[in-house]
Order: sequence, then structure tokens, then C-alpha cells
Amino acid sequence: MKVLIVGGGGREHAIAVSMKKSRRVEQIYCVPGNAGIAGIAECNPSIGVMEFDKIISYAREKAVDLVFVAPDDPLVGGLVDALQAAGFRTFGPDQKAAVLEGSKAFSKDLMKKYHIPTAAYETFDASEEALRYLETARMPIVLKADGLALGKGVLICNTLEEARAGVKEIMEDKHFGSAGNRMVVEEFMTGREVSVLSFVDGRTIKPMTSAQDHKRAKDGDQGLNTGGMGNFSPSPFYTEEVDAFCKKYIYQPTVDAMAAEGRPFKGVIFFGLMLTPEGPKVLEYNARFGDPEAQVVLCRMKNDIMDVVDACI
Ligand code: AMP
Ligand code: GLY
Repeated sequence: MKVLIVGGGGREHAIAVSMKKSRRVEQIYCVPGNAGIAGIAECNPSIGVMEFDKIISYAREKAVDLVFVAPDDPLVGGLVDALQAAGFRTFGPDQKAAVLEGSKAFSKDLMKKYHIPTAAYETFDASEEALRYLETARMPIVLKADGLALGKGVLICNTLEEARAGVKEIMEDKHFGSAGNRMVVEEFMTGREVSVLSFVDGRTIKPMTSAQDHKRAKDGDQGLNTGGMGNFSPSPFYTEEVDAFCKKYIYQPTVDAMAAEGRPFKGVIFFGLMLTPEGPKVLEYNARFGDPEAQVVLCRMKNDIMDVVDACI
């Protein structure tokens, strides 16, 4: 089959390499792609991931059989819905389901409603309320812009002063744009972080192997959070016991919760987990392969990726 990948990072390169190994794939296209991907796929660098009409025209022109939407912005923006409406078999969550990543307030409310373990939190629409709440909150505390912020919209504040400055940055100065119209304030958790990526078909979930990334900039973890600067797989801290707990209390319950909310999730759910002293808890959900996680996980996958992608759709 002919496949189109939407995206242009290391993640999309890892997806392209996996597809190249598939016995079912004869030609790979990628928009916009990158120099590495161009070695194994036909790229069109003039088409951006948010140019839905151009992507659909390109998919038609190349007569592709399947489209794989990899990055968060087009997923949350509804590219899967647009491609499906145009008649393309498309891998990735539709807009209704991608809100799992697109709104931290949504995902926190979902976890609370369905008793999925996560940090305690409050949501705020106005900075005055947030500031009032912080006066009596225990430090350190975590501030999160509600919307997409390239993995950077999270501030860990050690003092009340830092937290006040953080509220100003997110909600008043709009450092992360409209992502900061709402803000989640969350209990600070300690422990080892692990990422688990999983394939989901709306009802069934098949987790892949674990991965662990290097989050914070600067030596000694002194800098701000980044979207992840390096990765390895598997995580030695992700034991069989942890895996059994997560399958029972986190993975399947999340899939069931999304279905129960009328938002069945098809695609990849990325579970960002913290292995706290009280057990594993969800830090965040992503509605896609992570980058750099995809780069260390996909190369270890033994199945033909297209069999799995096809089964999910
Ligand atoms: P997120 O985008 O929500 O995963 O947050 C980015 C990073 O911030 C995470 O990978 C953690 O390193 C850190 N973080 C987020 N929430 C918390 C929390 N409640 N407690 C401690 N660290 C957190
Ligand atoms: N590495 C984390 C992410 O892709 O969001």
C-alpha cells in the first residue's frame, strides 16, 4: 500500500523506518518530512502539518491508501476528521478523542471521574482565583497551561514567589498563548518517570515496551522542562508488578472512560507515569507517539507496524 505520514521530526522518521520494513508498504510519502525522512520517503516540504486542504489534495494526488497523523497540533485541530470525511483511512484519534491531550483540564476531570490515579489538582479560569488558592497551598507546586504548549507549558514552583510569577507568565503574559486561558494547579509528585506508549482501537489496548526520557534542561536537572531531549528503553523501574498495576488501574480504565464519554480513542495513547511511593500515577496523556520516545520504542517492535495500525483503524 501507499502511505502518507504527516509530520517532520525524529518521531516521523522512526515511523517511516518502521513502515519501510513492512511487507505491506510499497511507497511512503511525508509532509513536510525532513532531510532524514527524504532518504526513504518522498517528502513535500512545502506543505505544513496544519494545512489540511493541501494535505488532502496531496493525499488524493498520490492516491494513498492510508494516512498516519503523528503530531499533536493537527490531531487536536481535527486533521483526522477532515481526512476521514475526504474518504481516507486514517490512523490517529479524531478531534473528540484527541482532547485527551489537548486539554489538561479535560484529562484531569476524566481521571477524577473514573478513579484513575493521578495528582490532586484544581482548575482555574482567572489568575486572581489561582493566586488566592496558592496563598495556602503547599510548595513545591506544579502549574500547567491547559492547552498545547510544545511540552513546555508546565512550571514546577518551589516557592510562593515562583508560583505567583508562574501564574503571571501563564495566565496574564500568555507565555504559552491561548493554551494559558485556563490553568491546572497540581500537587507535586516525586518518583521515577516512565513513558508507556500503547496502541488502541477504541476498546482494546496493547501497550508497547516502556521508555524513559531526559526532561529538564541544564546539568543536574536544574533547568526548565523540555519536551524531552534523550530517551532509552526499557525503563529498569518499570517492573512486572508496576505493569500489572497500570494495566488494571490506568490503561484499560482510560480506554473505557473515553468510550463511556462518547469519545472512543483510536490511535496511540502515551501514558506519562510517575512511580510515586504510593504507586504509579498519571502525569499526563498524549494522544500520539512521543518524540523522542518513538525513536527508542519503534525500533524494538517486532510486529509489522502496518498490521497493528490497520487493526486499530
Ligand atoms: P507534563 O507535560 O504534564 O507531562 O509535564 C511535564 C513534566 O513536568 C513531567 O514529565 C514531569 O517531569 C513534570 N511534572 C508534571 N506534573 C508533575 C507533578 N504533578 N509532580 C511532579 N512533576 C511533574
Ligand atoms: N517526549 C514527550 C512528548 O512527546 O510529548
